[in-house]
Amino acid sequence: MATNPFDISGKVAIVTGGAMGIGFGIVRRFVESGARVLLVDRDEKAAKEALARLPEGPGKAEMLTADVSEEASGERMVARCIECFDRVDVLVNNAGIFPMSPVMQMSPELLDRVYQVNIRGLMLTSKAVAGRMIQQRQGGSIVNLSSVNALRPNMVGLAAYDASKAAVAMFTKSLALELAPHRIRVNSIAPGGIDTEGNAQVLKDVMTPEQAEAFRENYLRTKVPLGRYGNPDDIAKAALFLASSASDYMTGSSLLVDGGLMLM
Ligand SMILES: NC(=O)c1ccc[n+]([C@@H]2O[C@H](COP(=O)([O-])OP(=O)(O)OC[C@H]3O[C@@H](n4cnc5c(N)ncnc54)[C@H](O)[C@@H]3O)[C@@H](O)[C@H]2O)c1
Repeated sequence: MATNPFDISGKVAIVTGGAMGIGFGIVRRFVESGARVLLVDRDEKAAKEALARLPEGPGKAEMLTADVSEEASGERMVARCIECFDRVDVLVNNAGIFPMSPVMQMSPELLDRVYQVNIRGLMLTSKAVAGRMIQQRQGGSIVNLSSVNALRPNMVGLAAYDASKAAVAMFTKSLALELAPHRIRVNSIAPGGIDTEGNAQVLKDVMTPEQAEAFRENYLRTKVPLGRYGNPDDIAKAALFLASSASDYMTGSSLLVDGGLMLM
């Protein structure tokens, strides 16, 4: 029988920000596909609840509480992953924050925090995990969560976030070039609007429930050709593709998964 190029069973993956939203969708899809996963999140309670919501198998998951922006976190993730699963083949840099603030009201602290999580965290985690992959001498795959907002702004108030995600897209390409000699592939996913806890909170922070409903309805009708929000599994399937040997000849690429948003 021909081997299935999308098969990730037996692979070991680290997923940051895995307790909810897109990250949890990726953890669940990977566990359902037979992978062993280290779920990393700064929110310990949410991470424990996430583990309890996972299917029994065929893969499995363990967790680590860590804030990706802290310097020691990358090495802690690698150590915990080796302790649980002996190796690491895949890293998904998903943890990210998107606080709203128009530039004219933006504090330098907000800008710093967005960059600390979305870029510094991604650098620290990638450096530590790629170091281990290089030692293992069996290549690997790093998948970074960028955004359609790396390509163009979608609403006022996300300038810090938009810039950080454009940085993620370019960081991905530079790292892909650097790690190619080690057969470590580095790609990014640019999601459109995905229904997640974090996304719902952004609307709650700046709108009444009625305004949020009207915003969502108008957004889907005028901006998204496929007419629906994405769900975390839409992104998880793209992550599975990039983690698997189906994407063996891809590195430095960005996959747009946006329901056609960028066509409008
Ligand atoms: N939801 C969308 O529409 C959308 C669109 C494009 C890109 N993205 C990107 O996808 C990723 C996930 O987004 P989401 O909507 O699922 O977010 P979310 O807020 O629903 O979930 C994020 C998770 O990451 C964790 N986290 C946040 N900061 C962390 C840190 N410093 N260290 C460790 N864990 C941390 C949170 O505790 C949470 O569990 C982000 O990078 C985001 O920018 C989301």
